[in-house]
Amino acid sequence: MLAIRLSAGPDRLDTLVLPVRAAADTDGGDTPATLAPTGPALPDEVLAEATALLPVTRLTGRAGETYAHLRPARTPARLLLLGIGDGADRAWRAAGAALTRAGRDETHITFSVPTGTGAEAVRALVEGLLLASYRFRLTEAGESPALTGVDLLVDDPDAYRDAVEVAETTARMTRLARDLTNTPSSVKNPQWFVAQVEAAAADQPDLHLRVRGPEELAAEGFGGILAVGGGSASTPRMVELDWRPADARTHVVLVGKGITFDTGGISIKPVPAMKLMRKDMAGAAAVVAATLGAAALRLPVRITTLAPLAENMVSGSAFRPGDIVRHYGGLTSETTNSDAEGRLVLADALAYAVRELQPDLLIDLATLTGANAVALGKRTGALYSENDQLAADLLAAVDAAGEAAWRMPLAADYVEHLGSDLADLHSSPAVGAGSVTAALYLREFTGDLRDRWLHIDMSAPSWADGDDAELTRGATGWGVRGLLRWLATLD
Ligand code: BES
Ligand code: MN
Ligand code: ZN
Repeated sequence: MLAIRLSAGPDRLDTLVLPVRAAADTDGGDTPATLAPTGPALPDEVLAEATALLPVTRLTGRAGETYAHLRPARTPARLLLLGIGDGADRAWRAAGAALTRAGRDETHITFSVPTGTGAEAVRALVEGLLLASYRFRLTEAGESPALTGVDLLVDDPDAYRDAVEVAETTARMTRLARDLTNTPSSVKNPQWFVAQVEAAAADQPDLHLRVRGPEELAAEGFGGILAVGGGSASTPRMVELDWRPADARTHVVLVGKGITFDTGGISIKPVPAMKLMRKDMAGAAAVVAATLGAAALRLPVRITTLAPLAENMVSGSAFRPGDIVRHYGGLTSETTNSDAEGRLVLADALAYAVRELQPDLLIDLATLTGANAVALGKRTGALYSENDQLAADLLAAVDAAGEAAWRMPLAADYVEHLGSDLADLHSSPAVGAGSVTAALYLREFTGDLRDRWLHIDMSAPSWADGDDAELTRGATGWGVRGLLRWLATLD
């Protein structure tokens, strides 16, 4: 990961980055930009040169605009002008992302941070720098970026140390979630995922990891996970990761869908729908990474994270449409479509959380339905909860983190379609509103925690088709940033 250093003086000037914003009293449209005043003293001649340059650059100051200027045989040899926008966190994140991309061929750059910039803005800037510099190590062709270090020139480095630390942890964990999600499913079976969690959790003494294999899952009645995983040569697992700080008062259970590949099973997916199904464990990756982040930041909240892991394959031992699955705790599902597998594994984990863990709050994240993108587009998660306060808190945290979610209705008129003649529930009623009916199905497993439960269908925002601000092509790590923000508000 890029090394970020706070510094009060320019002790190394290879490439100097100066902040540019729209001239005062304009709306940032196509009016010329001005240099934002910066703290630690920089050579006057450099500032004069940048100022003279501005009118001919056509920069407007919009966040993420860049302009490079060479100064052969002088120091610094390169000037980079960076648009910082309106000062909102979102603009700072975009500016950081643009800076990482514009500076990718440099080895070291120095950014002179505007005077009076708040700690939250610096946090967003660093998140943008670190997230946009992400590349997946196995599949990205070409050379890796040269850029290894960014110095942030500020008046008072101590004022920003915490912000940078939180940003670094947030970015490190988001990058971990991206790595897990981008990894091909030939590598990423349930056992491999467990090994990654073990390795990541090893250096935290207050983190406890319990892993259930197929025998334990069978002995305890996790019938949904076993049914979905039954068709694969790689047997299912369930991760239970517990962050248990001594001073915790609130106990949160996080559940994440961990389908390491989703063929659809016997109800097999067509080629276009299957090609990215290695991402179908992005929920599990997000909740695990958020928990590791909470531990690294020593957040004073107890978190138990459940990741039911299975590969949904086609084989002679695969479960069939029409099979009846008995979940943890005893509720049964008639499974008319083996491609509705995510809810079957989540049902077990939710029921387990309700019966055995009795947390204060129960949250699940899942790449659950294609309908998420149909309803809300490519960047926005579908959030469901009966609890207005909880929904508002999560939406606020997700938004502050630079992610997006939209609250959706647990529409009562679809509940009747969950009925089955053969079982307690029908797992995949084909009545439209796919994201809504999936959420209603999950709700049936929340027992007495029904009004302290929140579900996010994150199928859409878990993946980016191309680079976009702090997102890079491929897995986005969606949910890690929002969850960490939200967890930090609990006590
Ligand atoms: N993993 C998919 C959902 C998905 C689709 C995630 C696209 C990311 C991108 C899920 O298991 C699934 O197949 N859902 C079905 C449900 C249906 C069979 C009731 C769907 O959305 O079509
Ligand atoms: Mn599926
Ligand atoms: Zn799936």
